[in-house]
Amino acid sequence: MRIKVQRKTSVTSRRSDDGRSDGEGANKSQYGGSERSRGGQSNASLTKKYGVCDKVIVGKGATAVVRLAHKWDRSTEKLYAVKEFRKRRKNETEKEYVKKLTSEFCISSTLHHHNVVETVDLVQDEQQHWCEVMEYCPGGDLYAVIKKGDLGPAEINSYFKQILSGVAYLHSMGVAHRDIKPENLLLDAKGHVKITDFGVSDVFRMCWERTTHLSKGLCGSEPYIAPEQFEQKEYDARLVDVWAVAIVFYCCTFGELPWRVAKRDDMSFGPYQQIYRTSSSTPPPLSNIVPRECRSVIRRMLNPDPKGRATIDEVLADAWVQDIPIIPPLAIPH
Ligand SMILES: Nc1ncnc2c1ncn2[C@@H]1O[C@H](COP(=O)(O)OP(=O)(O)O)[C@@H](O)[C@H]1O
Ligand SMILES: [Mg+2]
Repeated sequence: MRIKVQRKTSVTSRRSDDGRSDGEGANKSQYGGSERSRGGQSNASLTKKYGVCDKVIVGKGATAVVRLAHKWDRSTEKLYAVKEFRKRRKNETEKEYVKKLTSEFCISSTLHHHNVVETVDLVQDEQQHWCEVMEYCPGGDLYAVIKKGDLGPAEINSYFKQILSGVAYLHSMGVAHRDIKPENLLLDAKGHVKITDFGVSDVFRMCWERTTHLSKGLCGSEPYIAPEQFEQKEYDARLVDVWAVAIVFYCCTFGELPWRVAKRDDMSFGPYQQIYRTSSSTPPPLSNIVPRECRSVIRRMLNPDPKGRATIDEVLADAWVQDIPIIPPLAIPH
């Protein structure tokens, strides 16, 4: 049975809707924006700073539409992606609404890595809509690329390694993404992957902390959600990211999903979990995944028991992963 990859919206609303106080944490100094980002100067108009936005949208998600802005600097044109957030809900106060937007901005603007979208600013447009300004990724999202259906193994492996590098960086910064899926993975002009959409990301360790904390709340899109998120009140959000990256690899390889949802009563996941528990073989639907050398690491990433699942650093240390070349090669060491 084929399980089609479809554009998915998150099963939950955004940060803080899940009952955590992580938004508060995210607004503290560690995530207060950096010199490279210029959040908060919302009185200067969007158009003045970043140019005119196209009417046509380049992307749409559960909470926002994204448009392209063109800014002319003498004779050179600079392009920006402008994410216009949804309007405030009736049951939300202005304070709650702004807190959600600013915590997404505060987290994303602190991150600087070649596999993470660069966030530039948070401003209000002429209609007072809140907009996050980002680098524009002209290659679109990985969902559209998968749908086209012409991905070769070298590209798939290269995308996989870049997503892993980006996620490893996030984890090193104390951030778990919690909504890794093809729609949130963009391609830049060179074809390099950039992780975007920190709307449900979680700070599991502040910079002054040594220990990490567990996350709460169901978030992300069903086929990419790890089983423990349905079963446990609290979970390690880093392991949830590891799981989702493996599902993305599966989608790129087969153009379909391994299961609809990682719950016992799912026709595909149920038997998978059963075989996983009782045998050391690679259970279907993973059993045919290629190349053969990837099976052991993908199996470890998709361990239904989070206690036995590989961490992102363990995945990156795998011999097969280490040997994957990035195409085109990065200009910077990785
Ligand atoms: N920087 C960008 N460059 C190009 N396209 C983008 C960019 N950011 C987002 N998009 C497109 O817009 C869509 C929605 O953006 P996203 O930030 O994921 O919003 P939401 O929080 O509503 O899911 C993405 O799935 C992608 O297709
Ligand atoms: Mg999104």
